[in-house]
Amino acid sequence: MAGLLASQPQTIVPVIMRTKMERTMRVLVVGSGGREHALCWRLRQSPSVREVVCAPGNAGIAADARCVAVAADDIEQLVMLAQSESVGLVVVGPEVPLVAGLADRLRKEGIPVFGPNAAAAQLEGSKAFSKQLMDEAGVPTARFVTTSDVAEAEQVIRSWGAPIVIKASGLAAGKGVIIAENEATAIAATRDMLSGNSFGDAGSAVVIEEFLTGEEASLFFIISGETIVPLASSQDHKRLHDGDQGPNTGGMGAYSPAPCVTETIIQQTVETVAKPVIKALAARGIEYIGVLFVGLMLTESGAKVLEFNVRFGDPECQVLMARFNGDLAQLLLAAAKGTLANDAPTPAWHHDAALCVVVASDGYPGSYSKGQVISGLDAVAKSGAQVFHAGTSMHHHQLINNGGRVLGITATAATIAEAQQQAYAALKHLEWPDGIYRHDIGWRAVNLEVNS
Ligand code: AMP
Ligand code: GLY
Repeated sequence: MAGLLASQPQTIVPVIMRTKMERTMRVLVVGSGGREHALCWRLRQSPSVREVVCAPGNAGIAADARCVAVAADDIEQLVMLAQSESVGLVVVGPEVPLVAGLADRLRKEGIPVFGPNAAAAQLEGSKAFSKQLMDEAGVPTARFVTTSDVAEAEQVIRSWGAPIVIKASGLAAGKGVIIAENEATAIAATRDMLSGNSFGDAGSAVVIEEFLTGEEASLFFIISGETIVPLASSQDHKRLHDGDQGPNTGGMGAYSPAPCVTETIIQQTVETVAKPVIKALAARGIEYIGVLFVGLMLTESGAKVLEFNVRFGDPECQVLMARFNGDLAQLLLAAAKGTLANDAPTPAWHHDAALCVVVASDGYPGSYSKGQVISGLDAVAKSGAQVFHAGTSMHHHQLINNGGRVLGITATAATIAEAQQQAYAALKHLEWPDGIYRHDIGWRAVNLEVNS
């Protein structure tokens, strides 16, 4: 660019300089999933962004960002990368580096980072901490007992009865929650966790929870100090099989907007959840900067918090990014710098709905084989869907599966029903015989559209 400037006649230099001034920022995105692909894709379109770097990224992210082979949990290497690349903003995708203190280290070096410090990341990293904080702050949530003692756990399980929910307190990659249909299963799961067999250290304390019923909803808020900016509504499908059956997964699909998440629910959640949580954290001297994911159960006696996550959900992030309309980098940078209240653009959303179907490796969420060749993605994209990559890599110039959740086929259209049709029509072009996906993503919202 410098060479180009030097060779231009004087009169057009200011124009070029202005363009260059605007596209000044290099952003580092940390992670390698569909969430990070969607973030890189949208950040690259931010008018203020010159380049997106992703660590470590994946085969699909490489089309939207320069991928650098630094692992998402290698804190010191990530700090060095952010410094050597002179990035103006780091956006952290997954929870593991946040819980391990990546944001603390970057802040210490004066590098703006979108993502909470380790102390605030305990909201996700320790269910014992998050339940305790909710209790103190008066946030509506399931009745619970936290314990590391098998005898106490057994006594609680027997006195409450089944169904009952047993949760490993620490990070367990979304697998540490057991919904026990009977007391024996609950006791066995608790013993397994507390003995360190099932989740290692993450299970050294368990949270025993009352079983709640209702529709689940995920809400996302960008938070910086006392400023709370709600994002558009979205909903994921956690179960593996059609009809919301089968084992829990990280998420097999998502859509936005989510009709069950009304404006009233969003506003109520700001007042009864986000504000009290920020206050309770502040009382402990902890500031929250980043996105707060509030998992709610909409029960007959009102909305109750199931969990907090300290990062974007995946695949929810894919549909949110598909609908986001504005300069994402400026929004996240303002949050990172603590200027969200003053100079952040209010997030705007495309009116169109978005729907994402996740394609996973056969066997996920259990074990699966890797290295299967995937093709047909050009045709998928041509038929109008955005393809976000998760567990993919290149091997001898061929795209292969390299993880559990592999692709997010994301379509946008005027209604959720149309977006659903478009995503599934696009999927017909995918050539990966062993890829599995659900055939009914968005069914609840589509039924509501049909009946309204
Ligand atoms: P969590 O990681 O705590 O959100 O739990 C994962 C999933 O388990 C949630 O999305 C719910 O489907 C289910 N779950 C968690 N806690 C409860 C509860 N108290 N009652 C019923 N289902 C729950
Ligand atoms: N889709 C839920 C999650 O990211 O945890």
